[in-house]
Amino acid sequence: MHDLPPDPLPTPRELSAREEDGPGRYIRIVRAVDERKAWADLNWTGPLADYLDLVRGDPRLARSSWQRLYDMLVSWGTDPAPEGSGRPVHHRFFDDPLDAGRDAIFGLEAPLAQLVCHLKAAAHGLGAERRVLLLHGPVGSSKSTIARLLKRGLEAVSRQPEGAIYSYRWHVDGGVHDCPMREDPLHLLPPSARDDVYADLNRHFDGEYRLAPTGKLCPVCRFYYDRLMRESGGDFGAVERAIECYRFVFSEQDRVGIGTFQPKDEKNQDSTELTGDINYRLIAEYGSDSDPRAFNFDGEFHVANRGLVEFIEILKLDVAFLYDLLGATQEHAVKPKKFAQTDIDEVILGHTNSPEFRRLQNNELMEAFRDRTTRIDVPYNIRLSDEVRIYRKTFGGGGACAGRHLAPHALEAAAMWAVLTRLEEPKNHALTLAQKMYLYDGRPVKGFTPAALAELRAEAPAEGMTGVSPRFIQDRVAAALVADGAPPCLTGFDVLDSLDKGLLQHPLIDSEEQRRRYSDLVGVVREELEETLKDEVRASVAADVEAVQRLCCNYVDAVTAAVSGQGSPDERLMRGIEEKIGVTEARKGDFRREIVNYIDALSARGEAFTYLSNPRLRSALELKLFEDCRDTFKLTAGSSTVIDRDVQEKVAVVAGRLVRDKGYCERCAARVLERVAGLFARGDSKAPAEEAA
Ligand SMILES: Nc1ncnc2c1ncn2[C@@H]1O[C@H](COP(=O)(O)OP(=O)(O)OP(=O)(O)O)[C@@H](O)[C@H]1O
Ligand SMILES: [Mg+2]
Repeated sequence: MHDLPPDPLPTPRELSAREEDGPGRYIRIVRAVDERKAWADLNWTGPLADYLDLVRGDPRLARSSWQRLYDMLVSWGTDPAPEGSGRPVHHRFFDDPLDAGRDAIFGLEAPLAQLVCHLKAAAHGLGAERRVLLLHGPVGSSKSTIARLLKRGLEAVSRQPEGAIYSYRWHVDGGVHDCPMREDPLHLLPPSARDDVYADLNRHFDGEYRLAPTGKLCPVCRFYYDRLMRESGGDFGAVERAIECYRFVFSEQDRVGIGTFQPKDEKNQDSTELTGDINYRLIAEYGSDSDPRAFNFDGEFHVANRGLVEFIEILKLDVAFLYDLLGATQEHAVKPKKFAQTDIDEVILGHTNSPEFRRLQNNELMEAFRDRTTRIDVPYNIRLSDEVRIYRKTFGGGGACAGRHLAPHALEAAAMWAVLTRLEEPKNHALTLAQKMYLYDGRPVKGFTPAALAELRAEAPAEGMTGVSPRFIQDRVAAALVADGAPPCLTGFDVLDSLDKGLLQHPLIDSEEQRRRYSDLVGVVREELEETLKDEVRASVAADVEAVQRLCCNYVDAVTAAVSGQGSPDERLMRGIEEKIGVTEARKGDFRREIVNYIDALSARGEAFTYLSNPRLRSALELKLFEDCRDTFKLTAGSSTVIDRDVQEKVAVVAGRLVRDKGYCERCAARVLERVAGLFARGDSKAPAEEAA
């Protein structure tokens, strides 16, 4: 487990901070970056004997591609799952620590854990290393993101000492020839010596798995090796003298150790892209098309040797290619034209969408492929809070975005809709779809325990494999943000309007029924959002400590008067409060006496009574205060003309609290209050007393 490697060099930002402003500043920043030390480390060269000493000192150098990938991933450590959640551990690697979380994956612990298990089995040589790792899921479920993370992880670790990787080149015929597949120099060892070396390495290796030879020489190296042995009468020294080992780093851009294959249309697919091609210019030089020196071993399988090859849309591959893929998977070998099988050592990762996968399942010819594939389903998130994080990553945590203010709940509303489109209606009719979503998110739902969760999951195992992709949401939020003439704040309702509008153009919605269902779900989220806003306003009203305290004093005065039978207490006020917590007319006398006794007992101990002393009373007072205020809001909703100052002030105070405590700006706070006022005026809110009961 490690944190980000300490970087001995100052970052460009640190350098910029140091440099004075003025002409020449940027070139000074550039010149201050000194990469010579790092460069020397990464470009180490040396004779075979030195390399073998390096391996002796650090047997990890002899790892296979799967072992390297597995080690890289787990080196970032794990976080335990929340207690009782039943989730697997979280692998920190998927938080994208290498790029400040820009490509972080949220949620999806189960499929990611499955992926790590597969890598582990492959590292142990249990057969998983002879399978295509197939990420399967709906569009936009982060399959490419996972592949990108793995590739970048490999690149980064190859620059660190713990991920150093070496190959060799030949100094022959007056020239220098790199092994075209960047093989491990250990491939050069004569078979008899190789077994001894590996046995010894395994004695000293403290990894959890065993090291094993990763293959035999490629045709080019075999050619030089055999020739040198022949010419020297079997003297390995001749090979040794011709060899120079060197360190290299993985780089997708430079096509080193990381290959990517993207199928084009079927007519243009050409297997040479995978397994290399004859170099016709060199045939003339070497006189034969079966001379390995006249062949370009630069197919994606060769490029990715020792690292990882990614097949984008793997099932769009022409069948002819799939045979190459099968050999590469099962035998760890590819067959270039005119040459024998050539060993490779690389992780083969593919991804595909559901329609292609269904086609594969229905195709008997593809049985061999199916059999050599480990499929990992990568669904959409069905946990709301994870989905929100996707959009926070794109649009920021709230506040300004693209010159506009992203109001609280805007992204939550979008995420909520996204998740709802992915859920199946619960079989239990007592549970609404929205409640199911809250349960999945770990929130309490009245009448349901977390135990219900397992049952819900079991009745809908394919949940998350359909629904709307985060891309659509990202597009619609973006469209709403940059729309002409839009108000300065983007609220949840604006986002929902944008989603609803977008449904008309959504290319993946194929039936009117589906469109209607999605549109209805926008309505569901709208209602949820309204409830949330009402709660928020309610809480803001209750946060007016002075007002609650004032109301409390009035109540206590009235109750004291009523109990002692003196004066003329305000019966309406008392009942208004008591009814909020279900104190009946018959019980009111007892309740009031209890309060008075309680106050007396406190004062006997020298303590003062405040509304905080009694939770029941507190809740009653807050609800009453809110009810009074609600009338104020109703008033503002109803009147388009003059509102009296007192009302205006009350509203302003609540708005101020929304701004201070909840992340609203003045404008969106005003819009929320207007909306909530409208809701109260329509009288469709649940009465607070009912909720408290
Ligand atoms: N669970 C998730 N966590 C973080 N981001 C996600 C998640 N799911 C989707 N995304 C985001 O959705 C977008 C699409 O992701 P990506 O391109 O990786 O999907 P994909 O599965 O490869 O899609 P396709 O099948 O269309 O190629 C990206 O912006 C990605 O960051
Ligand atoms: Mg993709």
